[in-house]
Amino acid sequence: MEKKPIIIAHRGASGYLPEHTIACKAMAYAMGPDFIEQDVVLTRDGRPIVVHDRFLDTVSNVARLFPARKREDGRYYAVDFTLKEIKGLGVHERVDRATGRAVYPDRFPENAATRFEIPTLEEEIELIQGLNKSTGKDIGIYTELKAPAFHAREGKHIEETVLDVLSRYGYSGKDSNCYIQCFEPASIVFMREKLKSGLKMIQLIGDNSWEDTPGVDYNRMLTPEGLDEVARYADGIGPWMNQIAADQKGKEPQMTRLVEWAHERSLCVHPYTFRYDSIPSYGKSFDDLLDIFFEKAGVDGIFTDFPDKAVAFLQKAGYR
Ligand code: G3P
Ligand code: CA
Repeated sequence: MEKKPIIIAHRGASGYLPEHTIACKAMAYAMGPDFIEQDVVLTRDGRPIVVHDRFLDTVSNVARLFPARKREDGRYYAVDFTLKEIKGLGVHERVDRATGRAVYPDRFPENAATRFEIPTLEEEIELIQGLNKSTGKDIGIYTELKAPAFHAREGKHIEETVLDVLSRYGYSGKDSNCYIQCFEPASIVFMREKLKSGLKMIQLIGDNSWEDTPGVDYNRMLTPEGLDEVARYADGIGPWMNQIAADQKGKEPQMTRLVEWAHERSLCVHPYTFRYDSIPSYGKSFDDLLDIFFEKAGVDGIFTDFPDKAVAFLQKAGYR
C-alpha cells in the first residue's frame, strides 16, 4: 500500500483539455500528480490506443469522416479501424451522444479548431518517461484495460498486448511505478495467474445497474466475503465514490465500511471520479469533498479530472 495518499490524473487534466490527448497529459504532468491514467483499447491492427471507450463517436469526428463504418447499433468501434485511420481523426471535448452537446459545458470548447489526436499507449508512455527525464521527477502510469471480454470476442488479446508494451518500457514488477486496473475480475486473474504479471493490480468496482460487465457481481465485491476474494488476486480496489460516501441528496452522506474492510485485507482504496464541476450534493466545496474522503473515510488516493486542485488540497492538509 502507498504510504501517502496519491493523486491520479483521470484521463489526464481532463477538466481542462479534451481527455486522453497528449496536450491533456502534458498539462496533467505539470500539475504534479503521482500517476497519470490511460484507458486502453485495441485497433483493428491490434495496436493499443489511449481512449476511454470502445467507441470513437463521442470524442472524435469519426462519424463525419467514416459515415458508412458504423455498426448496426449506430456506434463506431475502435476495433473496426486501423491505427492509421484512427490517427486521421480529430479529437474534441466529450459530447453527449443524444444531444451532441458537451457533457461538461464549462470545459474546453467542443467545437474549437485546435487539432488533437488519439495517442498510442507507446506515445503516452514516452511522453511521461520523457518528462520524468527532463524534470527529474518520477510520475507513474495507471493503465486501465477496457472491455477485455469484448476484445476477446473480437479475436484480440488486450492483456498480452498491454503487458508487453508495459514490459518493454520497464514496467513489470511490484516495484514498478505503475498500476494496472480493470472492471473485469477474470482479466486481472488471467494477468496475475496465467501471464504471471507482478504489476500492482486494482479491481475497479462499478454498479450492477450499469450493465457494462454482464456476469460480474459488484455488490458482492462490496462485502467482506467479496473483498476476501478480491484480496486473493489484487492489490487494491477502485470503487465508485458513492460506494464509500453515498449521496443522500442534500443530507449528510451515508458512510460505508468499505475502506475499513479493504484495509483489513491490505487492499488499498482509490475511488473515482472527483470533479470540481460535478460535486455530490453533500459536498460544500471541492476541498470539503476531498476532506470527507481523505480525512473521514481514509482513502489511499483518488482519481480526479482536476489534479491541480487535489494536489493543492493535499499540500494544504500537510500531506506533501
Ligand atoms: O479507472 C477509474 C475510473 O476511470 C473508472 O471509470 O469510466 O472513467 O474509466 P472510467
Ligand atoms: Ca479509467
